[in-house]
Amino acid sequence: MTFTNIEVTHAAGVSTITLNRPKQLNALDAATISELSTALTGISSDTGVRAIILTGSGERAFAAGADIGELRELQSATAAREMALRSQGLGRLMSELHQPIIAAINGYALGGGLELALACDIRIAADTAQLGLPEVTLGILPGWGGTQRLARLIGPGMAKLMMMTGERIKANEALRLGLVERVVPAAELAQAAQQLAQQIAALPPLSIAAIKQAVNQGLNMSLDQGNAFEAGLFGELAMTADAKEGTTAFLDKRAAVWQGK
Ligand code: COA
Repeated sequence: MTFTNIEVTHAAGVSTITLNRPKQLNALDAATISELSTALTGISSDTGVRAIILTGSGERAFAAGADIGELRELQSATAAREMALRSQGLGRLMSELHQPIIAAINGYALGGGLELALACDIRIAADTAQLGLPEVTLGILPGWGGTQRLARLIGPGMAKLMMMTGERIKANEALRLGLVERVVPAAELAQAAQQLAQQIAALPPLSIAAIKQAVNQGLNMSLDQGNAFEAGLFGELAMTADAKEGTTAFLDKRAAVWQGK
């Protein structure tokens, strides 16, 4: 499938999706959101893809937010709400996808760009990256899941501080806050993301999918409900061929050979 605003490549069980509007700092217009949804829906049924990397083209930006030109043209509250719901739908698709998604944040991750990164499972940032939710400076609020995901990730106080000032923070500060999980030199970002993706891709996919599901769905549950959900997933996984293989290989002191079953 060919796309205009994104590029999709596949290698060694890893799909890489690159936001590709570098002249607009990879700003996310409606067409890009739609292409991302189409690409991810295709990947979701491809059992050959074990991990996904999401990044931005060029050296300046992961994505500098929603396309501000499109925001200015919004004519009604209904149209604006529908725009938010469409982008939130992409976030839901990302969090329900069984493959893990790694955001490789290669520059600015602002507004909708940061919200897209927040919908990924793991975030690795270049040391040159800058992150923020500057929507308040446009007279709006983060409407693509940002108010919800940022508060869950770094706590409500810090999330409000970022959203109420709109200030950008640097990669190392984002690491300190738990907003990104790793920071690497900019020149090493692509390789670091690829290495991590391949490390995860080499592990049993049913376990990876269940971990993602347990954490993402569990975040919306009470501790008791989450633990019950986890136990159910554990029950299912324990009966898989890969669980039999993993435990047997350990006791036989050999490397496991995973089947994804
Ligand atoms: N939507 C549409 N276009 C955008 C954009 C966005 N979110 N962010 C940047 N661009 C465009 C600029 O309009 C400019 O286009 P031009 O070359 O045709 O003038 C181009 O990308 C480069 O951006 P520019 O602002 O000239 O670069 P800079 O280095 O001076 O500043 C940023 C970089 C990221 C600080 C600045 O572009 C910015 O603040 N962008 C908006 C961030 C934002 O508010 N996002 C939230 C949206 S909800």
